[in-house]
Amino acid sequence: MIVRKSNIQTFHASTEHPLPIILDGDPGHDDAIAWVLVRSRPEFRILCVTSVCGNQTIEKTTYNAGRIMALLGMDVPLAMGLAKPLFRDPIIADTVHGKTGLDGPELPEPACQPVACSAAELMAKCLEESEEPVVIVPTGPLTNVASLLLLYPELKSKIRHISLMGGGIARGNWTPAAEFNILVDPDAAKIVFESGIPITMASLDVTERALVYPEDFERIRCVGNQVASVVAGWLEFFYHFHQSLGYPGAPVHDAVAVTALLRPDILSGRDLYVQIETTGEFCRGATVGDLNRVSGKPANAYCLMDINRDAFVDLLVDAVAYYG
Ligand code: BDR
Ligand code: CA
Repeated sequence: MIVRKSNIQTFHASTEHPLPIILDGDPGHDDAIAWVLVRSRPEFRILCVTSVCGNQTIEKTTYNAGRIMALLGMDVPLAMGLAKPLFRDPIIADTVHGKTGLDGPELPEPACQPVACSAAELMAKCLEESEEPVVIVPTGPLTNVASLLLLYPELKSKIRHISLMGGGIARGNWTPAAEFNILVDPDAAKIVFESGIPITMASLDVTERALVYPEDFERIRCVGNQVASVVAGWLEFFYHFHQSLGYPGAPVHDAVAVTALLRPDILSGRDLYVQIETTGEFCRGATVGDLNRVSGKPANAYCLMDINRDAFVDLLVDAVAYYG
């Protein structure tokens, strides 16, 4: 694998100086596994969690976020995101994540209720209070992050980096051209990609290579603690849908956005100028990457393209072992 160095301001989280981060997602099996990874690592200091509507309705993704936080012992504030994308009706992915948005193993009930402010307000509070710039990891549609930028433009400088799951330079998964997270709220994605904030983009180009195979589920289950057995159950459920489409394993998309901060050495990518198609007959929600540099515009995203799958699986196994 050729590792190309990015010119976008990227960095490596370190144990000496934990990175303050905000988790914004629509859990969702792969969001949940991404959060299992974050919570297991001393390189991160989680400031808050915010839910977004995507895989399921905002009520369900918020409830799921609370259940995951209870499972992982994540004692930080949780805020509910907007009930709809910025200017459009919601689209849900119940075919992939089930009726609850997180079907499969039983989970504990949330240990606490969401705070009484919006996701954008909670993010703004955390940014204001943080002494150092913060990394945001969005693993759902970008509705909350765009709202934050629209409502609090003065806080942009407090966002060090956005490491997101979304888009696909070469392909889509919800339409031929569009990936789910970007398709659901392309207007929000446009705001984020045009913000000037350094972005790492874990798109389908890389996440469909982040496959966890059935034999890996067993390796994870054999770790033998509660989180390990739940993660193995989530993977099984998630794989079921993908297997019907011919995938040899479960693509754990959202965990790649976290891996980018922890193990850039197992990923490769390239800097690209990426535009978001917000209209268009066939391509709404597409992330149009300037592969041949014909736009003359500077890159606005470091687009991940490949991953060392075995090392990614090892990272997930180590993550669940933390909960022993
Ligand atoms: C993305 O869509 C959701 O179903 C997953 O959680 C992931 O964030 C993949 O297209
Ligand atoms: Ca997600």
